Amino acid sequence: MDSFDLLVINGLVVTASDTANYDIAIKDGKIALLAPPGVLDVKKATKVIDAEGGYVMPGGIDCHVHLEEPALFGGKGRSSDTFETGTRSSICGGTTTIVAFAPQPKTIPSLLQVLEDTHARARGNCYTDYSFHLLVGYPGEQALSEFPRLRELGISSLKIYMTYAALQLRDDEILDVLLASRKEGITTMIHAENGDVLNWMTKKLEERRLFAPKYHATSRPQIVETEATNRAIALAELMDAPILVVHVSSPSAAAHLRNAQTRGLPVYAETCPQYLFLTRGDLDKPDFEGAKCVCSPPPRESSDDHEAIWIGLANGTFTVLSSDHCPFMYDDYETGKKSIISKDYPEGRFSGIPNGCPGVETRLAVTLSANRLPLQKFVEVTSTNAARLYGLYPQKGTILPGVSDADLTIWYPPGKLGTFKLTNSMLHHNVDYTPFEGMELNQWPRYTILRGEMVWDRDGGGLLAKKGCGKFVARGKSTLPGPRKQGEWDVSAF
Ligand code: URP
Ligand code: ZN
Ligand code: ZN
Repeated sequence: MDSFDLLVINGLVVTASDTANYDIAIKDGKIALLAPPGVLDVKKATKVIDAEGGYVMPGGIDCHVHLEEPALFGGKGRSSDTFETGTRSSICGGTTTIVAFAPQPKTIPSLLQVLEDTHARARGNCYTDYSFHLLVGYPGEQALSEFPRLRELGISSLKIYMTYAALQLRDDEILDVLLASRKEGITTMIHAENGDVLNWMTKKLEERRLFAPKYHATSRPQIVETEATNRAIALAELMDAPILVVHVSSPSAAAHLRNAQTRGLPVYAETCPQYLFLTRGDLDKPDFEGAKCVCSPPPRESSDDHEAIWIGLANGTFTVLSSDHCPFMYDDYETGKKSIISKDYPEGRFSGIPNGCPGVETRLAVTLSANRLPLQKFVEVTSTNAARLYGLYPQKGTILPGVSDADLTIWYPPGKLGTFKLTNSMLHHNVDYTPFEGMELNQWPRYTILRGEMVWDRDGGGLLAKKGCGKFVARGKSTLPGPRKQGEWDVSAF
C-alpha cells in the first residue's frame, strides 16, 4: 500500500451528495483515496487526524469577499481588511477558498490593468486559496474587448451594480456586459437595487433631516430590490445569459428568482447570514451603533423575512450562501463607519455611512449553529455550489479522490463544544466589531486543512498557516446550466 502525507480517520464524511463513514488519505495536497474505516494502514501515514465523532466536510468557499477596496460603497470609507487579514480571518472560520473583487472604478478603462493591480495586492499575502471576480464599473469598448483574455487568465465571473453612484450601470450597459459575458462563458453577478429610486428616497428623507442609520433601511424598501431583481432577470433572459443575483435579502425578490428558475432560466441567487439573523431593528441601536449593520440591501423587517430566506436556502432558490464580507472599522472617523460624523453632521448621516459588514470568519459557524439546514445542504450552499458556479469544481468544493484538493474542515455535532457567545475578540479580521456580537453558537471548526496542510487547530494553537500559503486558482467555466441556446430571441443577431 502507498504511503500518505495525512490520514483523516473515523470521521463522518459529508459532501453535497453523500454522507458516509470513510477514512481519507491525502498525498501531495490532493485527496488520494477514500476507504471504509480500518482499511488504510495508519503506520503508512506521516500524520493522522482522528476525527471520531466529527463531520469531515469540504473546506468552505466564500465567493463574495471585499478586500482592500477603495471607497465605492458610500462615503469615504475604505475596506479595513487587506488580503492578508481577510484571508487570515477566512481560514480561522473554516473557509479555504475565497473569491474577492477586483474593482474597476469608472476612471480606469482596462480590466486587465485592474486585474494586474489586484494580483499585486494579493500575491504572497493570502492564507486561503483565492481568485477574483472583476467588478465592472466602466464597461467601455476596451473593457468589453478584454473579456476573452480574462477567460484565458482564469477569470470566469464578474459583478455589476444597479446602484451606487461610483458603479451604477444603465440598462443598456448591463446588456453590453451580459452579451459579452455570454459569448465568453462568463457568469455575471448582479447587485440588484434600483439606484435612481433609492437616491430619490434618500433625498426626500434628508430634506426632512432624517439622518439616523435606521433611515438607510427606509430609503431601500423591499420593492427597490424586487423591481431591480425582476429587471435583472428580464435583461438576462433577453440576452440568454446566466446571472447570479447577489446578497438577496427580500422574500419578494426571492419569489421572482424562484419563478425564473421554474421557467428554466439560468438564474442563480445568493444570500448571506445578515439576512438570516439581522433585522432593520439592528440599525436603530442608539448612539450611532446602528451604523455597524448598514449594508445594502439592508436587513429586513422581521423573523418572517428570515424564515422565507431559510426556506429559499432549503428549496434551492439560493444557490450559494456567501458572507459579503465588506469590512469597515466602526470607531474610525477617517475611513470607517464614523467617517460621516462631522461638524455639519454631528450625529452622522445614513447616506454617507460606508455600506457593508464583516462576516467571512463567522459565515459557516453562525449558519451551522442555527441547525436549520441538513448537513449536505449546508455543504452544498457554503462550498460545492460556489465551486460549480464559479468554475472551481471538482478541484474545490468536494472530496473526490485523484481530483480534489485536500481542503477539509472538521466539525463536531452540537453539544460536543457546548455553547458559547460570539465576541469580536475571538475573530481574526481587522475590524473592531462583528454584527453578530453576543450570538449563541454551538459550532466552530475544530480543524481546517488546506491542500493537505493543517492550517487551523482550534484546540492546538489556533492559526497554524503561514502568510502566503494561499495560491491563486485559475477558474474555468461554470458547471451549472448555462445559456439555453434557443428561445424567443436570437442573440446571435447582436
Ligand atoms: O453593503 C454591502 N453589501 N456592501 C458591499 C458592497 C456590495 O454591494 O456588495
Ligand atoms: Zn453588492
Ligand atoms: Zn458585496
